[in-house]
Amino acid sequence: MKFFIDTASVKEIREAASYGILDGVTTNPSLLSKEQGEPLAILKEICSIVDGPVSAEVVALDKDGMVREALDLVKIHPNIVIKIPLTKEGVKAIRELSQKGIRANATLVFSSNQAMLAAKAGASFVSPFIGRLDDAGHVGMDLVREIVTIYGNYGFETEVIVASVRNALHVVDAAIAGAPIVTCPFNVIELMFKHPLTDAGIKKFLEDWDKIKKRGQA
Ligand code: G3P
Repeated sequence: MKFFIDTASVKEIREAASYGILDGVTTNPSLLSKEQGEPLAILKEICSIVDGPVSAEVVALDKDGMVREALDLVKIHPNIVIKIPLTKEGVKAIRELSQKGIRANATLVFSSNQAMLAAKAGASFVSPFIGRLDDAGHVGMDLVREIVTIYGNYGFETEVIVASVRNALHVVDAAIAGAPIVTCPFNVIELMFKHPLTDAGIKKFLEDWDKIKKRGQA
């Protein structure tokens, strides 16, 4: 399973990369809007930190505009993947980009039908937004299970990126569902480390070690 980080914060990406468990990065216009600085410069810096797919999203709504933006974005770094919303124009753009050998990540995916269209168009990645589905009263992880099954049934090579992850349980459920990739906000990566029994265990080991040292001094 690959771990991506879902942020445009260079600080968070540097910190997560230092753990040695980071396989890629996903950004979107909202995430980039939270950061100071020019988006292309931020994406370039991100690519210098993480050696893996870095998703950068287009904002055009028409196929030609999407492809134009994509062609500019891929000049930033070979690891750039073009994030494209799953619309009719988006599917056309994904198809054109895949024919040019440019990797696309179909985003804002909320149904298995949309995921099938993304795979048929040649998307390298598909991003079901599970947190937003949960927010709307659906079980987001059901969608992940469906897509993983469907892609398996037909041998689609499109990789599922579980996105819109809100908590550590989402990560576990994505792994149980067999999703190849999960993209987590920084706070969720931090939560994955935490367990009170780990902290309590370290405290006890150190206290007991201290007893040995004190014995030696007596
Ligand atoms: O990768 C997509 C993700 O950024 C969306 O997350 O929390 O805005 O639904 P959220």
